[in-house]
Amino acid sequence: MSDAHLRLAVLTGSAPGSRTGQAVASWTRHEAINYGQFDVDLVDVAEDPLPVLITHPPSPAAAQKLELISPRLAAADAFIVVCAEYNHSFPAALKSAVDWHTTEWYAKPVGFVSYGGRSGGLRAVEQFRLVFSELHVVTLRDGVSFPNVWEEFDEDGEPRDTVGSHTAAKTMFDQLLWWSESLREARQKRPYTP
Ligand SMILES: Cc1cc2nc3c(=O)[nH]c(=O)nc-3n(C[C@H](O)[C@H](O)[C@H](O)COP(=O)(O)O)c2cc1C
Repeated sequence: MSDAHLRLAVLTGSAPGSRTGQAVASWTRHEAINYGQFDVDLVDVAEDPLPVLITHPPSPAAAQKLELISPRLAAADAFIVVCAEYNHSFPAALKSAVDWHTTEWYAKPVGFVSYGGRSGGLRAVEQFRLVFSELHVVTLRDGVSFPNVWEEFDEDGEPRDTVGSHTAAKTMFDQLLWWSESLREARQKRPYTP
């Protein structure tokens, strides 16, 4: 690893108390740490969610929540969004966290680990690609997807297909590393001002 570590924020918006969502987020965090190229920060945006309505200035309560989240997004060189599928789309807590921020996302890469029923959350991911394109984000082609997630993880919170999941994660992290290194270098050379 180079001196200046790449910082990766893993975002989860799982319903509080959800065993499946927490298992996926925790597995993602461990895979990211074990990959060995990123300083990993798990950002849970559902624990104390931001308001759905965006106001300028934010209410005191929203400002307090933003203080906890915004600096961590700003510091990140890369993101993984751990995303369930709700009615063929993304969970509201994740979308709110995205909407409350702008420059924190700019010229950075986002990868996805998705989960849900038969679709494995992929419809939510495709919708997120549209949202992130508005925020000058590069979304990775390859990600990890867990269909029928409640069957996919064992009692210890580990995926049953450890090899397949790990291989998919490695492909995603290889792409994330290339993009995060390249874009960090580019941002340092010339600030991104769209
Ligand atoms: C309101 C609601 C809508 C859902 N819609 C879908 C859906 O459209 N497609 C799907 O594959 N799963 C759907 N699911 C299943 C969730 O993706 C699944 O239960 C997932 O584990 C929820 O993640 P969470 O507990 O981390 O929030 C839905 C679940 C809920 C509660």
